[in-house]
This record gives sequence, C-alpha cells and structure tokens, in this order.
Amino acid sequence: MTQSHPKPREQWGTRLGLILAMTANAVGLGNFLRFPVQCVNNGGGAFMIPYFVAFLLLGIPLMWIEWGIGRFGGKYGHGTTPGMFHYLWKHPIAKYLGAVGLAVPFLLVIYYNYIVSWTLAYSVFSFTGKYFGVQNFQGMADFLSAYQGKTSNVYFPSIATAFLFFIITHFSMMWIISKGVSKGIERLAKIAMPLILVFGVFLVIRVIFLGTPDPKFPANNIANGFGFIWNPDFSILKQSKVWLAATGQIFFTLSVGFGAIQTYASYLTPKDDVVLSGLATCSANEFCEVILGGSIAIPVTVAFFGLTQTQKIAAGGAFDLGFFAMPVIFQKMAFGHLVGTIWFFLLFLAGLTSSVAMAQPLMAFFQEEFKWTRKMTARILGVMLFFFTLPVIFFLKHGFLNEIDFWIGTVGLVIFAIIELVLFIWVFGQENAWTEIHAGADIQLPRFFLPIVKYVTLIYLGVLLGFWMFQDGWGVLTMKGVPAADYPYIWFARFLLVGIGALMILLVHIAWRKKHIIQQRIPQ
Ligand code: PHE
Repeated sequence: MTQSHPKPREQWGTRLGLILAMTANAVGLGNFLRFPVQCVNNGGGAFMIPYFVAFLLLGIPLMWIEWGIGRFGGKYGHGTTPGMFHYLWKHPIAKYLGAVGLAVPFLLVIYYNYIVSWTLAYSVFSFTGKYFGVQNFQGMADFLSAYQGKTSNVYFPSIATAFLFFIITHFSMMWIISKGVSKGIERLAKIAMPLILVFGVFLVIRVIFLGTPDPKFPANNIANGFGFIWNPDFSILKQSKVWLAATGQIFFTLSVGFGAIQTYASYLTPKDDVVLSGLATCSANEFCEVILGGSIAIPVTVAFFGLTQTQKIAAGGAFDLGFFAMPVIFQKMAFGHLVGTIWFFLLFLAGLTSSVAMAQPLMAFFQEEFKWTRKMTARILGVMLFFFTLPVIFFLKHGFLNEIDFWIGTVGLVIFAIIELVLFIWVFGQENAWTEIHAGADIQLPRFFLPIVKYVTLIYLGVLLGFWMFQDGWGVLTMKGVPAADYPYIWFARFLLVGIGALMILLVHIAWRKKHIIQQRIPQ
C-alpha cells in the first residue's frame, strides 16, 4: 500500500473562477446543438419531464458525488480516479477501476475536439461568406460533407481545410492546458463564459424579434417555433427511448460520468464548499441549456422552414441542425454574416472549454503519477491525442466517430457512474461520504437525500444500463444496418476502445509499481 506524500498542488485562483471553470466544463456543444435536437426528437415539451427527473435524481446527486470524490482525492495529491478510488477503497483492484476515468475522457476528446474545430471553421466561413450562395439544405449538406472529406466539390477539393482547423483547435487546447489550472483553464473560463452568455442572450433576442420572416408562409413564425419545442406530447412518455435519451442528455450536458468533474474538483482546498458550488454549476448549465440552447436553433429553423422540415433535419442527427440549417438561415437574415460568425464562435468557445476539461485528467495523471513536468506532459499528451484523432478524421465516413460515441457517450459513462457511486456511498460508506461532501459546505442537505442516492440513483442507473444493452447494445454490437464495407473500420474503432482501456490499466500499473519501489527505498 502506498502512502500519501502530499505536496502543494495547483489550485483555483478564486471561487468565482472555479465556478466559471466548472460551468465552462459543463456548457458545451451539448447545450446548443445536442439538447434542442434531443428535445424535438423526443416529444418536445414532454421531454422535459424525464429530463428534469433525471436532472434531480441522477444529475445533481452525481455532481455532488464527483465534487466530493475529486476534492477528497486532491487532499492526497491525486487529480484522477485511479488515485481517488485507491483511497476510497483500500483494495489493489480499486486503482484499476479508476482507469475507466482516464480512458473515457481520452476517447471522448479525440472526437469531440474534432467537431469543435468545425465550429471554428464555420465561424470563419460565416465571416468571409464562403457558404453564402448555398441556399438550401442539400447544398449545405454537400458543403459539410466535402469539408469533412467525405466527398469533394468546388468548395473543398480535399480534407485539407478541415485538417488545418483541427490543428489550430488542437494547439489552442494544448496551449491552454500547458499553462496550468489557474493561469490556463481558469483564465480561459473567465473570458469565455461571459462571452458565451452575452452572445447567447444576443442571439436569443435576435431570434425573438424574427416574427414571421416570410409573409407568404404565415404559419412559419417564431411563436410556432417556440410552441414546437415546448408543446408537450405526453403520449410519448410511454416509450422507454425517451427516458433513455433524456438521461443520456443530462449526463452529457453536466459532464458527469466522464472523470472530468473529479479532476477539476481535485484543485479545491479542503475548506472549499462543494454543495452550493456544485448546485450553482448545475443551475448555470441548465440556464445555458434550457433557456439559451432551447431558444436558438429550433425556433429559428421553424420560423424559416416550417415544422415538417425542422423535424426532418432534427431526425437526421445531433449536429445537423447547427451546420445545415443555421447557415442557410443566416443568408436570409439582416447582418447574417455577423450573426453567423457569432453563433459559430459561441459554439467554438463552449466546445473548447469542454475539450480542455476532457484533456485535463490525462494531464493531471501524468504529472502526478509519473512526476512529469507540466510542459513535458502537455507535449507528450498533445502528440498522443493528435495521432489518435487521425482515424476519427480520416475514417469519419465509415462511421468511426459514431461507433466510439456510442460506447463512450452512452454505455461508458453509465458504467463509470455506477462504479463511482458504489465506491463512494457503499464502500467508503454513506456517513464518510456525507461528511466529505459537507466539509466546508455553505448549505446543509436534508438527510433524505442519502437513501435517494444510495438506492434510487443506483437502481435508476442499473435499469438504464440494462435497457441500453437490451435496446441498442445488441444491434450496435452486431453492427445492424452497417454497410459491410465499413466493418473493418468499426472493428478498428473497437480495437481502439479496448486498446486505450488496456493502455490506461497498464499505465496505472506502471505508476503504482514505480511508487512502490520508491517507497521501499525511502527509509521509514
Ligand atoms: N458537457 C459538455 C457538453 O455539453 C461535454 C463534456 C463531457 C465536457 C464530458 C467535459 C466532459 O458539451
């Protein structure tokens, strides 16, 4: 068993900075692109019922648990889950379970950050007017697919442009984390978060005043747009898929179940409040999701193209609306160049601050467990992430990204949430967990919260995982609907998933062995 050698760790500069950084972690493409699409595809206003149930029973409790585990690990000098779990459960297996909290964010950032780079590109394209003239969805779909290198056309003869924007985004991310927690991440959040809010509010106001863009189609107006997203269709609540979608969205948007919140929380001091700050982060994220995210993409698309079209586009995929419909609309708007630039830049800032949060666990891991310097870690991690993103970029058309997204974004995070909940509440013990969460707390939680987390949240997660496996898992596992030509790529994606998982376990093993040896040499 290793002993703790606590040495001064990095810390957040100010409480406001910490809350902004945590909020910037949570607010991302999920709020502005994924949420509206999920909402429309799953019953509009009725979606909000399972959404809020999941928010209260899973989202908020897990947020507190992750803050609690993170701050606890930070006390012992560990910013990642292998070290945190090691202290929660003094068993040799514990640290290996923590390897999941390294593999998940690693596999997530390699595709998430690539999508973030598209938003930067589209912000520039809006400014320069590159897509101006492409007036319909099909045109925009072709534009995007040539940009992604799936096809080629006059706009993009090759994937070179996309690659260039990826490199810019990748270097920005690595540059920020190489500056450290308070000088890099916190500083970025202090600039980006206010900008996201200002841009978001500006866009919502712009949307509200759109009225009826084309008098020839009086039904296509902004009121109907809001009606479309908020009118409840309660009959849909009978479908389990809606409950699954709502829960998936809560995890994704709050960044819980990814190992990213724990790392940020590890930079708290033992006296810092967890309860109120965790709640503030959840609330700020929900404002950016439900109020801002829900009021832009969908209502605008309805106002310009009507309900049926909007539904069709939303059914096409989580990100289509932002990249297909919005650029067409900017061309029909006054100051469209400017509004388009702002919209995509908002997405870029929200996405970049989330990418940084996904990469930080790996930074912390190498710095702390291997004693590498920050600069060296940033360089090595930068190279690793760069190479692992290449298959995502070049095999996009073969479903590589979707495959990784399914296993990480749907299954991986639920499994991880179950592990951490069991370790913290059941193994570490409910009273210890309670004390840990309340140390330094500005508000006290009511006691009934404990059985909710201990039983309800856990059973909820278990049932959810069962449903997922049952409904989607088998189909995905057997590659239902996948063209035979893509099989090798899907296998490659799976090989990568298993390979990264194994690599993380191996790294944990090496790190602990090294510590053990060092320990033996130190005369006690
Ligand atoms: N919550 C982010 C979003 O809404 C995604 C994210 C997941 C960020 C995991 C960090 C860690 O886009």
